Amino acid sequence: MNILKVENLTKKIGSKTILNKVGFEINEGEILAFIGPNGAGKTTTIKCILGLQKINDGYISINGYDIKKDFIKAIEYVGCIVESPDVYMYLSGYENLKLQASLYKNIPKENIDNIVNLVGLDKRIHDKVSKYSLGMKQRLGIAIALLNSPKLLILDEPTNGLDPEGIKELRDLLKKLAKEGIGILISSHNLSELESFCNKVCIIQNGKIIEENSINNIKTLKENKYKIKVSNTKKITKYLTKEDQIIDDNYFIVIKDEDSIAEFIKKLVLKDILIYEVTKETISLEEIYINKAGGNKID
Ligand SMILES: Nc1ncnc2c1ncn2[C@@H]1O[C@H](COP(=O)(O)OP(=O)(O)OP(=O)(O)O)[C@@H](O)[C@H]1O
Ligand SMILES: [Mg+2]
Repeated sequence: MNILKVENLTKKIGSKTILNKVGFEINEGEILAFIGPNGAGKTTTIKCILGLQKINDGYISINGYDIKKDFIKAIEYVGCIVESPDVYMYLSGYENLKLQASLYKNIPKENIDNIVNLVGLDKRIHDKVSKYSLGMKQRLGIAIALLNSPKLLILDEPTNGLDPEGIKELRDLLKKLAKEGIGILISSHNLSELESFCNKVCIIQNGKIIEENSINNIKTLKENKYKIKVSNTKKITKYLTKEDQIIDDNYFIVIKDEDSIAEFIKKLVLKDILIYEVTKETISLEEIYINKAGGNKID
């Protein structure tokens, strides 16, 4: 069942259309990578989902509750960090958690301890937040977001400023949460950080979704690129399609599935073109995105 549904979300500020018919879904246990360059509309989309911004048109439901009609019920199921986690630096992590927990009714101490364990902060939870690293603050932010046992977790650019180790830890934590059935929306402008652990990718550019795909489809795309070495690429141009590409005198790239690559090589060999190397290349999500969006520009 879908935990978040966004349909035709349109948001205007003054005469400017910030979001234009944005739509996507997240099911239980699914992680959606919400990707776009600066100013694309990621934070605005998130703020609309959280009811922090009014929407001009469209439909948003969380756990089946329409946020326009049943906002209180809908928002009960959400945990979030927008922009950066709100924590008091002069309190310990634990004191921050207790303070935030007091905003909800009846959160047993045991639940807080479980969350601390889950985010892996147990050893440092009684230290002052001012002594935390960025990654630890991020974990504390996620711990706070988990206090109300959300079914949907929304994280706006949580990898910002994290080192590769911090990103890996965040990735492991989010995978663990998704396994427990939580749906996760995670935004970023960096695709390569997210592609290894998300189920779906949604790419937004200038307030429009330009691509929505399962990560498996994107992985299939990745398997279709081959780099081939010949003695002279001039001889093979007539066998290439629009998507293929000559790199230099010796190397060129073709996009093919596994059956057609075998046929393609056979064809070249039968035409007396010697093949020196064939390497399967991976297309990074970045490349697919840049091709689609026409670059990483802000309009
Ligand atoms: N209050 C506002 N008034 C006018 N324009 C706004 C306002 N808030 C956002 N915008 C515009 O809406 C667009 C989308 O902004 P948004 O913050 O959603 O982008 P983003 O994808 O989160 O970018 P970033 O990666 O930089 O965080 C931008 O062009 C921004 O200038
Ligand atoms: Mg933003």
